[in-house]
Amino acid sequence: MLKIYLNGKIVPEEEAKVSVFDHGLLYGDGVFEGIRSYNGRVFKLNEHLCRLFKSAKVIMLKVPLSISDLEEAILKTLRANKLHDAYIRVVVTRGKGDLGLDPLKCLSPTLFIIASKIELYPAELYEKGLSLATVPTRRNEVEALNPAIKSLNYLNNILAKIEARNSNALEGIFLNSQGYVTECTGDNIFIYTEKGNLLLTPPVYSGALEGITRNCVMKLAKEEGIGVEEKLLTRYDLFCSDEVFLTGSAAEIIHVYKIDGRVIGEGKRGRVTELLQKKFKELTQREGTQIYK
Ligand SMILES: Cc1ncc(COP(=O)(O)O)c(C=O)c1O
Repeated sequence: MLKIYLNGKIVPEEEAKVSVFDHGLLYGDGVFEGIRSYNGRVFKLNEHLCRLFKSAKVIMLKVPLSISDLEEAILKTLRANKLHDAYIRVVVTRGKGDLGLDPLKCLSPTLFIIASKIELYPAELYEKGLSLATVPTRRNEVEALNPAIKSLNYLNNILAKIEARNSNALEGIFLNSQGYVTECTGDNIFIYTEKGNLLLTPPVYSGALEGITRNCVMKLAKEEGIGVEEKLLTRYDLFCSDEVFLTGSAAEIIHVYKIDGRVIGEGKRGRVTELLQKKFKELTQREGTQIYK
């Protein structure tokens, strides 16, 4: 039985209930983060909380705790569940309102933290890699619902996930309305080309979340002497690259061997993906906010 942090208290899972009038539920009005802990340390905690506060600021939602109090609440939740390696979900909703949209009628935001275990993909997939499909649904427009906001409104991503599954793929590639690649339903995307020793990823303004893992990987690649650029990419660029991989807090780094039926590179995990996986793993084992002091 999990212990959940809900509005200032740690409660057993079955007591962790929110109102059916909560606008997080009624309208997807809220923001969230998905964070990992490794080996008793929370990885990039401050970066995740800064992103949560930015998402909240953009939707004019006041997070009911300061960053440092929220950090403490997360650590407390992990300790209550005796976790060392965990997946942490932090959710802030607009709170309880009436049946209308008006967020000003929601007087008190709801904040909950779930700390649990997660394995997004089975271990064999990290050997074999993923086969991806481009999905027909386009990524939300930056000018409409900016994908840089990690909001509770994930229907765009869910539609894309359904379409990917309909095409027998576990993940889908989102294009924006101009036809440029943006990201996947829950991960950022990278391509590597031997020629020029270049690692490329779509810029956030094309319609992607500024992934924490993405930022880490870009830094690690630079430290390894690999050229890193944020660049608008087409499907052609993906098909003709030597390596493709996805990044995300849950999936970490996973390679892609096929996209829309085209085999990528030699159809297996590439040298650079393997190197970055190793460097990333080392980083997760040595860095982070200690849970048990
Ligand atoms: C749409 C989307 N893109 C990318 C990512 C990867 O971001 P991060 O590395 O911060 O987990 C996520 C996961 O949170 C996501 O939901």
